[in-house]
Amino acid sequence: MNKIFKVGLIGCGHISETYFRGHDYFNNFQIIKCADINQENANKCANTYDIQACSVEELLKDDEVEIILNLTIPRAHYEVAKKSLEHGKHVYSEKPMAVNFIEGEELLKLSKSKGLYIGNAPDTFLGGGIQKSIELINQNKIGNVRLGSAIFAYPGVQSYHPNPEPWFANNEGGPVMDMGPYYLTALVNLLGPAKSVHGISTKVFEKRVIGIGPKKDQEFNVECPTSYLVNLEFLNKTFIQITLSFDVVAHQRNHIELYGDKGSMIVPDPNMFGGSVFTCVDDYGTWEEHKTDESPLGKINITSQSERANESATNANYRGVGLSEMAYCIENGLKHRCSGELSLHILDIIKSTMKAADTQTPQEIKTTCTKANFFTLEEIQKILK
Ligand SMILES: NC(=O)c1ccc[n+]([C@@H]2O[C@H](COP(=O)([O-])OP(=O)(O)OC[C@H]3O[C@@H](n4cnc5c(N)ncnc54)[C@H](O)[C@@H]3O)[C@@H](O)[C@H]2O)c1
Repeated sequence: MNKIFKVGLIGCGHISETYFRGHDYFNNFQIIKCADINQENANKCANTYDIQACSVEELLKDDEVEIILNLTIPRAHYEVAKKSLEHGKHVYSEKPMAVNFIEGEELLKLSKSKGLYIGNAPDTFLGGGIQKSIELINQNKIGNVRLGSAIFAYPGVQSYHPNPEPWFANNEGGPVMDMGPYYLTALVNLLGPAKSVHGISTKVFEKRVIGIGPKKDQEFNVECPTSYLVNLEFLNKTFIQITLSFDVVAHQRNHIELYGDKGSMIVPDPNMFGGSVFTCVDDYGTWEEHKTDESPLGKINITSQSERANESATNANYRGVGLSEMAYCIENGLKHRCSGELSLHILDIIKSTMKAADTQTPQEIKTTCTKANFFTLEEIQKILK
């Protein structure tokens, strides 16, 4: 039996529900208390899940709490993670690790000096879809991967989010910061660390209109680029062409395609946990389907229509597995997969991509990380209920 880690939640917004659902799947963490700078949000969350609400300060000082789950907004990730570590708590934050590289670097250093774990979403790469893709690459199904493409493109959050402004704000906004973590984390786990990046960016609309909520029909300024066309080179010499955009009504391209010297692969949505992988190893375009819907982290568990235009109606969503895997590693003195090194490398790629486009100068990626081992069924079963 695993130890059940007592978790304190800071940031009781939209995504918190998904982590509470993690209690149904994972056996080694329990969210026992919550806090938010908005007390109303904390109280509502506490009432919904029958836990205790307290102030952020009280939560950080609470001896019972061993891990802080940081689900605040990107701009606050650094400050909350730093305070958590300073109070002697392990911390697991939503993506991205921080909005500035120097902050991420400081967090990683601090966690090491304190002997504490720092973990970060996304954990979607631990799902059936990306893990099946990794398994097939490891089996040399498509040979050495040398080329590929990736795309995340949709119209943006303003139609369905009552407070969309941060997605279009300087430094913290834009598609690379928001959706880049899913794609880049999947690619680094498939191909290894990145080496350099070049790209261009553009802003299609100067203003956007809020679609719902109290500010419905209000216009706001778009401060950052909303589309990026990027060439990312990996240390293993693979080149991936990436489109990240909040300016596209619809498209029919695959999320990620990888081209190896023996064949090609279609990788399922890196924002989700399941989906089939497809491979083709002949000249006639015969695609073989590799299903993941029987795997424990690929099984469909969401059947309600998502409000988000970029998500399919039914999908597999096991967010929280990264937290559970980190808790297991803390207990057993192992290296966790959603590690600080990985998230700092991803933050480095994000910031380098934005700088490369902004300055029209290719950027070298300064950091590196080790590619996590394949997440075996035996390892998954240890943390599942
Ligand atoms: N909503 C989604 O679909 C989704 C999906 C995946 C990941 N995420 C990520 O999860 C994080 C949270 O997203 P969300 O949609 O839940 O946001 P949200 O705005 O709904 O909730 C964030 C909460 O954090 C609180 N907060 C902000 N700063 C704080 C601080 N300094 N101290 C304490 N509390 C603070 C806010 O009051 C709010 O209640 C973001 O990093 C986002 O990128 C969101």
